[in-house]
Amino acid sequence: MSAGTGAYDESYRRSLDDPDGFWLEAAAAISWTRPPTRAIDASGDPIFRWFPDGELNTAYNALDRHVEAGDGERTALIYDSPVTGTGRTYSYAQLRDEVATFAGALASLGVGKGDRVVVYMPMVPEAVVAMLACARVGAIHSVVFGGFAPRELAARIEDAGPKVIVAASCGIEPTRIVEYKPIIDEALTIASHRPEHTVVLQRPQARADLGDNDLDWTELVANARPVDPVPVAATEPLYILYTSGTTGRPKGVVRDNGGHAVALAWTMRNVYDIGPGDVWWTASDVGWVVGHSYIVYAPLLVGATTVLYEGKPVGTPDAGAFWRVISEHGTKALFTAPTAIRAIKKVDPDAAELAKYPMDTFRTLFLAGERLDPETYHWAHEHLDVPVVDHWWQTETGWPIAANPRGLEPLPTKPGSATVPMPGWNVQILDAGGKELLPHEEGAIAIKLPLPPGALPTLWGDDQRYIDSYLKEYDGYYLTGDGGYIDDDGYIFVMGRTDDVINVAGHRLSTGSIEAVVAANPAVAECAVIGVHDALKGQLPRAFVVLKAGATVTDDVLRDELVAAVRREIGPVAAFRDVSVVDALPKTRSGKILRRTMRGIADGRDEPVPSTIEDPAVLDALRPVLRG
Ligand code: COA
Ligand code: AMP
Repeated sequence: MSAGTGAYDESYRRSLDDPDGFWLEAAAAISWTRPPTRAIDASGDPIFRWFPDGELNTAYNALDRHVEAGDGERTALIYDSPVTGTGRTYSYAQLRDEVATFAGALASLGVGKGDRVVVYMPMVPEAVVAMLACARVGAIHSVVFGGFAPRELAARIEDAGPKVIVAASCGIEPTRIVEYKPIIDEALTIASHRPEHTVVLQRPQARADLGDNDLDWTELVANARPVDPVPVAATEPLYILYTSGTTGRPKGVVRDNGGHAVALAWTMRNVYDIGPGDVWWTASDVGWVVGHSYIVYAPLLVGATTVLYEGKPVGTPDAGAFWRVISEHGTKALFTAPTAIRAIKKVDPDAAELAKYPMDTFRTLFLAGERLDPETYHWAHEHLDVPVVDHWWQTETGWPIAANPRGLEPLPTKPGSATVPMPGWNVQILDAGGKELLPHEEGAIAIKLPLPPGALPTLWGDDQRYIDSYLKEYDGYYLTGDGGYIDDDGYIFVMGRTDDVINVAGHRLSTGSIEAVVAANPAVAECAVIGVHDALKGQLPRAFVVLKAGATVTDDVLRDELVAAVRREIGPVAAFRDVSVVDALPKTRSGKILRRTMRGIADGRDEPVPSTIEDPAVLDALRPVLRG
C-alpha cells in the first residue's frame, strides 16, 4: 500500500512493523508519573492493553502540565453560547483551578479511583470541568447525550453503576428548554441502581427542584477544597461512552488513560496540524465521542485553545453562525459533521453570510461522523477555499482510523475517500469467508488485531460481549461494521454500515431499538425499520408496519402513537417521523425480513432480488412505497 512517498509511508510502516518503538516514541509527548517501558501487552490476546507498566493522570496532562510549563495564562477554553447570549474564556490556570476544586467536591462525596460518575449536561464549560475532575481523582466518567429519553439514560445508569450523577438543570434547544432533572428522576424510577447523589448545575433558563439526595453545584463547590491529580495505571479506564449496537442494549465502550492520551496527542499534531496556542473548534457535543476526543481531551493535551459552542449551525442567529465563531476567535481549524455543512448550505446556498466574516486564520475543515457526499464536499471547498478533509472513525476507535495526515504529510484528497489508514490501523477488506480482498473489491472493512492505543480495549464489564460483537466474525480482526473498498493508492472508501446501525444528523442510532419500540404497539403484527437517505440529515429512520388482523386503528393515529413512543423511549434525537402501513414485508424462505434489499431500493439503487426470497410479489408490491 503506497499513498504518499515520505513521512506518512514511513510512519505507517513503522507503526505496523515496530509498534513498540513507534508508540513508545509517541508516548514521550505525555508526562508520566511512571513512564512506560513497554507499549503493547498481548498477554490477554484477543484483549490487548497498552503501556501496561505506565502510570499517569490524564487531567494533569490536559491542564497542570501546561501551567507548570509557564503557560497558565494561555487560553484553554472559549465558551461561545449564542443560545444564551453569553460567553466566557478560561485560561489554563483558571480551568486547572476549577477542575481541581470540583475534583475536591467529588472527593468530598466519596468519589475516588475506579468509581463511575454519569455526566448529563449540555454544552457548558462545567461539563468539561466535570469530565476532567473525574479524570483528576481517577474516577470514570460516562457522559450521556441530552437528546436521549429517560429509558436510554436509565440503561446507561444501570450498566455503569455511578456513585454520583452530575447534571445541569436544563439544555437549550431552538424550539424549547429541555429540563434535565425530570428526565433523571424518571430514569431513576426505571433503573434499579441508585446513585448516592445528583449534583445539579442550576441554569437560569430553568432551575431544577432539588430532592433529598440532590446537591447544588455552586454550594458544593463553595465548600470544596482543591485536590491534586491521582496517578492511575495507563490501563485503567478514563471513561465509558455508550453507543448504539445492533440490539437495543447500548454498548459501554471503555477508553483507557494511557493509550488514549498518547494517541490523541499524536493526532493533534500529525492529523489536525494543531499545536500549543492554536485555536481549534469541534462543533459537536460532549455527549459523543467526537466531543470527548476533540472538544475536551486532545486540544488540551497539546496546549491548544478549544472552542465550546452551545448552538446550532443555523438559526443561532443565522446561517453565518459558524463563520462568526471562526472569525471572532481566530480559529485555525473546524471539525464538524457533514450534516452541519448541509444545514448551512440549505439556507444559504451561495454562502452570502460568509462574506461578512474575515476568515484569514482559517486553514482546514475536517469532517467526519457520516459519509461526506460529494456535493457537500465541493460546496465547502468552493466557498471556504481551504482543504476539506474527510476522515473516518467510530466511537469504538476514539480517533481516526483513516485520515489525511495534514500535519505529518498532507496527501492529495479524493472526494468520497477518507484517505489513508493512520498508524496502527491495519485496515483490510474481507469477503464473507474472511479472505482479504484486492484493491477495488468491496467487502467488510476489518482491522487486523491488535488495535492501536486509544481504541477500545473492551466493553464495560463484559469482555465476552466485546469479543462476540467485534472479534468473533473474523478470527484475528476487529469488525468495523462498515463496508467499503481500498483503491490502488491505498485510499479507503467507506460505503456505509453493513448492520442495523444508522447515522441521523451524525448521531448514531440502532434501527433494532427503534423497531423494538414500534413492534411493542398492540396494533403491530410485524415491522421493519430501515435507514433511508435524507438530503439534510444523511439518513432518517423509516418504519414499515404490517397490522394485526382485525386492528382498527387508522394509519394517522398509529403514526402519531409510534412517533410519540419512539420519542418517549429513545428520544427526540431519533428524528423518527415516517411510518408506512403495508400489507406484507418481503422475507427469505426462512422468515428473515429482507431489510438490506428494502434499504437498497429505498435509496434508489439497482438492488438484485435475493435468490432466497420467499415471495417476489411482496417485494414488487412494496417497491413504489419504498421509492415514494
Ligand atoms: N438535548 C435535547 N434534545 C436534543 C439535543 C440535545 N442535546 N440535540 C438534539 N435534540 C433534539 C432536537 O431539538 C430535535 O428535536 P425536535 O424533534 O423537537 O425538533 C431532535 O432532537 C433532532 O435533533 P437534530 O437531529 O440535531 O436536528 P436539528 O434539526 O435540531 O439540527 C443539525 C440538525 C444538522 C443542525 C444538527 O443535528 C447538527 O448540528 N448536527 C451536527 C452533528 C454532530 O454534531 N454530530 C456529532 C458527530 S461529529
Ligand atoms: P460514531 O460511533 O457515532 O462515531 O459512528 C461511527 C460510524 O459513522 C461509522 O461506523 C461509519 O458508519 C460512520 N462514519 C463516521 N465517519 C465517517 C466517514 N468519514 N465516512 C463514512 N462514514 C463515516
